[in-house]
Amino acid sequence: MKDRLLFSPFTIKDVTLKNRIVMSPMCMYSAANKKGFLEDFHFTHYISRAVGQVGLIILEATAVTPEGRISELDLGIWEDDHIIKLAELVQQIKSYGAKTGIQLAHAGRKSNVSGDIFAPSSIPFDQNSRTPKELTKEQIKETVEKFQLGAKRAKDAGFDIIEIHAAHGYLINEFLSPLSNKRNDEYGGSLENRYRFLKEVIQAVRKVWEGPLFVRVSASDYVEGGSTINDYVQIAKWLKEDGVDLIDVSSGGLVPTNIDVYPGYQVPFSEKIRQEANIKTGAVGLITSPLQAEEILKNNRADLIFVARELLRNPYWPYHAANELNAKIESPTQYERGWRV
Ligand SMILES: Cc1cc2nc3c(=O)[nH]c(=O)nc-3n(C[C@H](O)[C@H](O)[C@H](O)COP(=O)(O)O)c2cc1C
Repeated sequence: MKDRLLFSPFTIKDVTLKNRIVMSPMCMYSAANKKGFLEDFHFTHYISRAVGQVGLIILEATAVTPEGRISELDLGIWEDDHIIKLAELVQQIKSYGAKTGIQLAHAGRKSNVSGDIFAPSSIPFDQNSRTPKELTKEQIKETVEKFQLGAKRAKDAGFDIIEIHAAHGYLINEFLSPLSNKRNDEYGGSLENRYRFLKEVIQAVRKVWEGPLFVRVSASDYVEGGSTINDYVQIAKWLKEDGVDLIDVSSGGLVPTNIDVYPGYQVPFSEKIRQEANIKTGAVGLITSPLQAEEILKNNRADLIFVARELLRNPYWPYHAANELNAKIESPTQYERGWRV
């Protein structure tokens, strides 16, 4: 048995993950009720990965307002009634030793639900998209409160960790980027002003949530005139000052563009933010092999490994990773005979 970082515990505030494997948030577009409620599918889906020994399971983008959904099939946390089923799911995931997180989200101009859609400025995502309404200052304040209420409900449901979705071209990302934010007030212009909306969201969430707080960012827009990794080093420094515990470092999604993807393509962003802003990070993006994950951790390029599609293909990926790395991993007692044949 070898000491492998991927299978070492990780403590953040008073939460200890049993290993460094995180199920990256993935929308399942499966709330057939169209009211944001969990369905049986979600229980099977998330609990399978908990049985598979993932250390932290982060629920998919969960909307803080109905118009903040990407589609009508998204999960929601905009009313108290959502809490009951979320609490049930949290309890079941935890019974297999995994910790639980939820990604609080607002789709902004990338919402496909009917009715008005909103963004910092009245600029559509592309020629085929609807034109969003520019949020008034009053509406900005209300949206900040919706994130706060979502966080309060997540707490009531028993989640261990909250992640704010500030990536992939959704509302918060739209405020951060100069390409989608052309406001003339204190929410637009300089980087500090563009950061203000996220800052207010963090401050509001922090009033109701003392636990570990993650923020997912898109560390590059990949186009001329867009946000760059250097902007995000600065943003990460501010996030740290404002009480964020870990940056989950993704990229892209703000404007349509071709991204050159290859194994670990976003890891250099995580590494730079971790080194220069001196904050914990998670790496994500085409991390599919156990040795690759171990390399990232051992070379101090990230603290956690977020895995998305590989966990869709194989909910028991952690078992196979442990075998390949010759590391120790627990199994649910029922499955012990199938483990290490
Ligand atoms: C089906 C699917 C749904 C996704 N939904 C979300 C989401 O809700 N929130 C988010 O931040 N990223 C989402 N992503 C992005 C993943 O979390 C991850 O960052 C991306 O797939 C790259 O990781 P991978 O190469 O391990 O799949 C989604 C990806 C997939 C494949």
